[in-house]
Amino acid sequence: MNPSATRAARLLTRQRLIGTLNTSNSCLAQRTCSPFLRPSSITATRTIITATKLEAVPISPVPKQPAPKDNETKSQDESSGFKRFSQFDLTGKVFIVTGGAQGLGLEMAEALAEAGAKVYCLDHAEQPNSTIWSQALKRVPTTHGGSLHYREQDVQDTSHLDELVASIATENNRLDGVVAAAGVQQITPAMDYKPHDVARMLAINYTGVFMTASSAARQMYKLKTPGSIVLIASISGLVANKGLISPVYNSSKAAVIQLARNLAMEWSRKQEDGTGEIRVNCISPGHILTPMVRKNFEEVPGLREKWEAENMMGRLAETREFRGVVQFLASDASSFMTGGNLVVDGGHIAWQCRRGMGEGEVDWEMEEVITMEDMVNFP
Ligand SMILES: NC(=O)c1ccc[n+]([C@@H]2O[C@H](COP(=O)([O-])OP(=O)(O)OC[C@H]3O[C@@H](n4cnc5c(N)ncnc54)[C@H](O)[C@@H]3O)[C@@H](O)[C@H]2O)c1
Repeated sequence: MNPSATRAARLLTRQRLIGTLNTSNSCLAQRTCSPFLRPSSITATRTIITATKLEAVPISPVPKQPAPKDNETKSQDESSGFKRFSQFDLTGKVFIVTGGAQGLGLEMAEALAEAGAKVYCLDHAEQPNSTIWSQALKRVPTTHGGSLHYREQDVQDTSHLDELVASIATENNRLDGVVAAAGVQQITPAMDYKPHDVARMLAINYTGVFMTASSAARQMYKLKTPGSIVLIASISGLVANKGLISPVYNSSKAAVIQLARNLAMEWSRKQEDGTGEIRVNCISPGHILTPMVRKNFEEVPGLREKWEAENMMGRLAETREFRGVVQFLASDASSFMTGGNLVVDGGHIAWQCRRGMGEGEVDWEMEEVITMEDMVNFP
């Protein structure tokens, strides 16, 4: 590299690193550049930043951890051993799935029922399509105690939604979780979007998901039932999804991913009174062949081929490929997972990760070693 290029690379690296250290929500920044910490020498290398000497370190209060008894997990005998896949067993549990009349929602409802749960599918049609629904009922094995039930519910009607969730919980004297899958898609360039279309999409894709989760959590707190809430986001909430000109859908899914982290922060910890212990996670699927996506293909010629080419597997997903994913998140198999986002996309965004790096992240591939002194002296 010539000297001016080397200099430019050094400046860029410093700017990035300073940006990183100034980013208020960066863990590294908090650890190394808090006003209370006075590092006399901080060295950034390719993979680590270390403080070699720290003076006068007032430590901020650490949140109180629950007593050890509250941290106990199920004994080995209780949770595994005698039965295959016992951690995935949902026998006797009750779940609600919104958007459960078709597509991904119905497939995930079937999967929960297959694992033994009683599952209520909520959707805005008065009745589900009779052919689709009867086929789904046939696929649910009655031998494991699981079952599927349908209730009409538009997630935009949040007060009725709250009443319905409460009545399901009361009727069963429990609610073990919810899968918020109701969602709509609209392909429209940003400059053509009308405010009422933005409002409608957010009312379903964001507020509907939020209110579904909070109605469920309210009942789970009331009945002191720990459990799992799964929000269906999308890779479109993580990257600008090539070929999907759908700015409101994409940003609504980004909001859902952030929502999951915040709900997890509020509800995951078990409280002294026995409430809490509700895990909240997202699933971010890549492109799946569902009625929603088939409609996109009708609207945009060539879109299917484009999407197939955009992931490492060179194909779209089938809904059945999400059965195990939801069984994992809804069950004890994921008992230490909360605030997470499970990306299931055939490698779609793995290709884009390095390009998608945000401001607060360090490009660790930069070979240069930069000292704190370098950064302070930087003009
Ligand atoms: N198909 C994909 O490629 C893909 C990818 C990522 C994420 N997702 C998400 O998965 C979820 C399911 O999508 P899908 O592809 O199965 O679509 P789909 O259209 O087949 O199913 C969506 C369901 O939501 C229901 N719904 C819509 N508005 C509703 C409302 N107001 N109240 C209640 N129910 C309502 C629909 O009736 C339908 O049954 C959505 O949240 C979607 O954004 C889908």
